[in-house]
Amino acid sequence: MQTAEHWENVYRTKDFDAVSWYAPHLGESLRLIRQLAPDKTAAVVDIGAGESTLVDDLLHHHYLDLSVIDISVTAIDFSKQRLGAQAEQVGWHVGDITQYDFGSKKFDLWHDRAVFHFLTDPAARQAYIELVRRSVNPGGYVLMATFGPNGPLKCSGLDVVRYDAQSLHNEFGEGFSLQGDELTMHHTPMGTDQQFLYCWCRVSQ
Ligand SMILES: C[S@@+](CC[C@H](N)C(=O)[O-])C[C@H]1O[C@@H](n2cnc3c(N)ncnc32)[C@H](O)[C@@H]1O
Repeated sequence: MQTAEHWENVYRTKDFDAVSWYAPHLGESLRLIRQLAPDKTAAVVDIGAGESTLVDDLLHHHYLDLSVIDISVTAIDFSKQRLGAQAEQVGWHVGDITQYDFGSKKFDLWHDRAVFHFLTDPAARQAYIELVRRSVNPGGYVLMATFGPNGPLKCSGLDVVRYDAQSLHNEFGEGFSLQGDELTMHHTPMGTDQQFLYCWCRVSQ
């Protein structure tokens, strides 16, 4: 099954709170975004947002320049419906992040929770990182959350790559300076725990 088809199938057949990555709020992501990009005019993008409520929480905290992308139109439509009229304040994108282009739009903070770790093909990771290079302003931040060294080997039936801060940073290479990392535990709706690595770096000025 192709990537887009896989994720469409997930979001068409599962309730928003019945997927392993579900959390009512992405508290860790929100806290770090507010810390790294405290200016409410900062352009923030959520990569592979799915149906997560991070965009709602960022709107609640008065962020003014929000963008969201996911490969699944079903997930994007669900989030738009949930937000109602507020959805008009967000730039919505549907597409595969390894083949996407945001055009002239640039971001001050790039957030990805549980998307990059699905890229098992080095060429796909390279394409992703090239897009980060084109799309994040100098001095901007890249905030990544992947499965950690003791995290699961699969998610949603797909293989993943697990990272520690150094191996994730090595993927990004020159032009990115590692600023911090944290290991956290995600409690899935199924009652299991998953180790996540949060890692953030800054794009050279
Ligand atoms: C495990 S879910 C995480 C969703 C959300 N970030 C969260 O933390 O709740 C992975 C998400 O990435 C999206 N996705 C997977 N591959 C993608 C790709 N190549 N381009 C864009 N989105 C993708 C999926 O549709 C799904 O919503």
